[in-house]
Amino acid sequence: MSEHMLLAFDDEAPLAQALAYALDVPLGWVRCHRFPDGELRLRLPDNLPPRVLLLRGLQQPNEKLVELLLCAPAARELGANEIVLLSPYLAYMRQDMAFTPGEVVSQRHVAALLGGLFDAVLTVDPHLHRVRSMEELFPGRRGVALSAAPLLGQWVAQQLGEPVLIGPDEEAAQWVSVAAQERGLTHGVGHKRRLGDHEVVLELPPLALQGRAVVLLDDVASTGQTLIAAAQQALARGAASVDVAVTHALFVGDALQRLHEAGVRHVWSTDAVPHASNAVSVAPLLAQAVRELWGCE
Ligand code: R5P
Repeated sequence: MSEHMLLAFDDEAPLAQALAYALDVPLGWVRCHRFPDGELRLRLPDNLPPRVLLLRGLQQPNEKLVELLLCAPAARELGANEIVLLSPYLAYMRQDMAFTPGEVVSQRHVAALLGGLFDAVLTVDPHLHRVRSMEELFPGRRGVALSAAPLLGQWVAQQLGEPVLIGPDEEAAQWVSVAAQERGLTHGVGHKRRLGDHEVVLELPPLALQGRAVVLLDDVASTGQTLIAAAQQALARGAASVDVAVTHALFVGDALQRLHEAGVRHVWSTDAVPHASNAVSVAPLLAQAVRELWGCE
């Protein structure tokens, strides 16, 4: 029996299969049944090797957190003694302070929960802002944050040559500067104030956009409002085209449609979150990081 196994859920099958292939490890499935009252029954392979990698992205996170709460101790009962959580999208990272008195700092408590369940946590472009590193987020545990920004930078340069890259807000600076560096692209970040779930006020950086191909680059698109506001402004300032590249394509409800209605041409995302817009795979990036974590490289 192999020393390693990748465990995954069937709604993330394409990424799981690519990863298992790249890592050359057996792939086991977590089978999931939801009872009429909403409770979950999970079933893991009944005999696990010592080192288990559990793939579970936390898009639509609440039920998935319960899955993790159940899976991690069960995997240890079934033979695993080291469990790495591979969560390409780590949810609850944006609430990193109490913005009003009494507000729960979800980032801290979700990280404490995961740190208690897993020996290591690996993710892609987590929304770290005031808490700056995975070490700070998971004290005493191994935490690895990978970035898809170089891959997105290469992708947009291949598609468009020399677009102007814009991050809609200051928090996107970390990804935009890395993506732009790949091909020395002109780049900048805007300034954003969020007034509510579906309302943002935004100002793009003072770059010359007239006649240019503009790519809006961000870590996550949720309601799409941030990107819609940025796209409308770029077009009003004379951009020849506006495309979007994001690591995590959440696109809730009709966000994608509204983005196109606002004038966005292409929407490209990574497969960190399964979505119709996936154009760039993070599987090789993840596989390399797992090999390093397991000391296989
Ligand atoms: C926050 O600063 C993030 O980087 C994204 O800009 C934000 O979460 C996008 O949210 P929405 O699509 O709902 O505007």
